Amino acid sequence: MLSISRTIPFLRNAVTDARSRGQRIALVPTMGALHEGHLSLCRLAAQHAPFVVVSIFVNPAQFAPHEDLATYPRDEAGDIAKLETVDAVQLIYVPTPSVMYPDGFATSVVPKGAAEGLETDFRPHFFAGVATVVTKLFTQVAPDVAVFGEKDYQQLQVIKQLVRDLDLPIEIIGGETLREPDGLALSSRNAYLDARARAIAGRLNVIMRSTAGSVAQGRDVGLCVKIGHDELRKAGFEVDYLEIRDASTLKPVTDRTKPMRILAAVRIGRTRLIDNMPV
Ligand code: PAJ
Repeated sequence: MLSISRTIPFLRNAVTDARSRGQRIALVPTMGALHEGHLSLCRLAAQHAPFVVVSIFVNPAQFAPHEDLATYPRDEAGDIAKLETVDAVQLIYVPTPSVMYPDGFATSVVPKGAAEGLETDFRPHFFAGVATVVTKLFTQVAPDVAVFGEKDYQQLQVIKQLVRDLDLPIEIIGGETLREPDGLALSSRNAYLDARARAIAGRLNVIMRSTAGSVAQGRDVGLCVKIGHDELRKAGFEVDYLEIRDASTLKPVTDRTKPMRILAAVRIGRTRLIDNMPV
């Protein structure tokens, strides 16, 4: 039976009951407007724990004042209907902003390391907002495992680092990125794209794959990235970044024998898209 909790005491009771039945707990944090990518994470979570908690919270702390907090897509009824189709999802946790950030709230978790550069160059407060809310979700739910998408690859690395650095006894699992047939990664923000922008958006994955392919063939990283940049601009994107990085530290590549990752953030009009893949 799927239940919905909007408060911390109700959440904790439900989790304690599950534990007393000997069940492991998995958490899948989301901001709602759920799509198949989110549901695939729930199914992956179910392989690791019979009691899956999905949180839905559009976290004000990770939006800058000029960003899309007010217009971020929200569809609680639709989200619940989708989660009802995934058997292991037992609890949906939907805290209100005042449950998460009550009056007087004044503490934040500020990650460095994996959080430096890339997204942070364009969204300086983003990872502190994410790390703070995820730390709170971790202490509220106290899961054994938590699942995050590789779609937000830097975020996944930041969360792994957070759990390591703060000795949180939670296993972090990364889930593959689900894509549209033309390669565009599923994203709640794709809802912002009109037909023309949607047609351009599909080019992002194609250009990233060809850039990654050239690097994998041994060509110069700087040159491949420069060509990729030019192609993205020609396709109609404004480019925040296109980078090839060490896949685990996210630092610039110094040793090409170690796994590498290509990461990009681009804009079409006011819509910002991010994507990444192995090289
Ligand atoms: P949100 O953007 O809703 O994403 C929730 C989770 O779904 C993240 O772990 C994200 O990487 C994953 N995801 C998004 N698109 C995906 C796709 N196409 N395939 C597979 N997984 C995908 O990321 C956040 O929310 C927030 O920052 C959050 C972690 C909830 C903290 O507020």
